[in-house]
Amino acid sequence: MLEIKNLHARVGDKEILKGLNLTIQTGEVHAIMGPNGCGKSTLASVIAGHPAYTVTEGEILFKGQNLLKMKPDERANSGVFLAFQYPVELPGVGMAQFLKAALNAKRKFLGQQPMDAVQFMKYMNLRAKALDITSEMLKRSVNVGFSGGEKKRLETFQMAMLEPDFCVLDEMDSGLDVDALKLVGKAVSVMREVHRSFMIITHHDDLLQYVQPDRVSVMREGRVLITGSAELVKEIEAKGYDKF
Ligand SMILES: Nc1ncnc2c1ncn2[C@@H]1O[C@H](COP(=O)(O)OP(=O)(O)OP(=O)(O)O)[C@@H](O)[C@H]1O
Ligand SMILES: [Mg+2]
Repeated sequence: MLEIKNLHARVGDKEILKGLNLTIQTGEVHAIMGPNGCGKSTLASVIAGHPAYTVTEGEILFKGQNLLKMKPDERANSGVFLAFQYPVELPGVGMAQFLKAALNAKRKFLGQQPMDAVQFMKYMNLRAKALDITSEMLKRSVNVGFSGGEKKRLETFQMAMLEPDFCVLDEMDSGLDVDALKLVGKAVSVMREVHRSFMIITHHDDLLQYVQPDRVSVMREGRVLITGSAELVKEIEAKGYDKF
């Protein structure tokens, strides 16, 4: 699904990713862990095509295609989804309106017919129910005035609606209460399929208890230091990052 080779990326003149290698197989749930500031969110932003980050060396292949040559919207339409650590607010844009536009843009890109309003509402209400998203929440502007936990639930809801092939979750579990964590964990588990991969960036094993990762990579100073089995998470929880 995703193959990253010798990736170097910078913000301004500061190099943050310094020769990162990572492979995520199709159908795999891959957890990324690592101390604050090691470049996890930067990696997620580079994958999504955030304009603040410049790739200076290396390559990213997504389903065999050169991801770095694709514009951010092409990446999204091709199946890359990023749930942000800090979700952006879109004042004046309603969630339903936003999702319908995104969904139909993707369908158009894939050569499919757009969903009409009735089909869309049906589709949306089903998924909203599963994540305890109320119709009042759907009427409000995207992320504006929502609590931290509500924003994360809404991000999960967007992911469920768009059915991406590759989902990047950046600290989806931080700031969630027990019930919301369970809900998000379940939503991700339900979406786990042979054709879909997940990159789950996290500091704790909270979310990983609901979504057992196939492999775990530990980052440090802009590189992946080690990739191993889910056992690594326990080792990190017990001993911290210094041992790596
Ligand atoms: N837009 C930016 N401008 C300046 N510095 C940046 C920018 N984005 C990232 N950095 C710097 O790059 C480094 C890596 O940041 P990043 O957000 O990727 O870390 P992280 O691994 O996600 O950390 P955390 O666990 O705290 O979320 C940090 O030192 C950060 O200050
Ligand atoms: Mg981060």
